[in-house]
Amino acid sequence: MINLRPAIPDDLELLRYWDEQPHVIASDPDDDWQWEKELYRTPDWREQLLAELDGRPIGVIQIIDPAREESHYWGEVPANLRAIDIWIGEASDLGKGYGTQMMQLALARCFAEPDVTAVLIDPLVSNTRAHRFYERLGFQRIESRQFGGDDCFVYRLKREDWYSLENS
Ligand SMILES: CC(C)(COP(=O)(O)OP(=O)(O)OC[C@H]1O[C@@H](n2cnc3c(N)ncnc32)[C@H](O)[C@@H]1OP(=O)(O)O)[C@@H](O)C(=O)NCCC(=O)NCCS
Repeated sequence: MINLRPAIPDDLELLRYWDEQPHVIASDPDDDWQWEKELYRTPDWREQLLAELDGRPIGVIQIIDPAREESHYWGEVPANLRAIDIWIGEASDLGKGYGTQMMQLALARCFAEPDVTAVLIDPLVSNTRAHRFYERLGFQRIESRQFGGDDCFVYRLKREDWYSLENS
């Protein structure tokens, strides 16, 4: 049973440990999440969530409003979108269906807001397993882009596609 809860300052050590795992570094080589600072902030354009499996933390989901995110990482984007980052901390927890459940919870959370029209994801071009993962969830690749010098694909899941997949 997986649930999502807000990340808190007590999670700092675990988040830093997960950031050092090879599969996490491979998916996001340059990012410094600055947990020591960010775990104390709760801006209204962001949710930083920990996924727990029967109470055991297994991974992270960040949901942002890309139009309002303060570094403008996504550049000029329309309002009413969300962008998600996801990773599982321990390699031994990969490939067991947990990520799928985490994304389903995160997408339900995003689309619970009636104004949200679509959700974006930006995996590295090299992260082919993640591409398959997102495609299975209904995401469609819409463009290639560089983010901070990294070659990425942008994937989008529109509300109507999510809704029909949920109800099929
Ligand atoms: C991507 C990720 C969240 C998926 O969660 P998961 O629990 O492993 O996935 P599930 O068991 O629900 O689904 C299996 C699929 O996940 C993907 N996956 C599994 N291991 C993966 C890995 N090490 N890296 C990327 N994707 C992986 C594959 O698409 C896999 O399907 P496949 O076996 O047919 O290749 C998880 O694998 C992960 O944290 N990977 C490393 C970090 C990452 O790539 N995050 C995404 C950045 S955009």
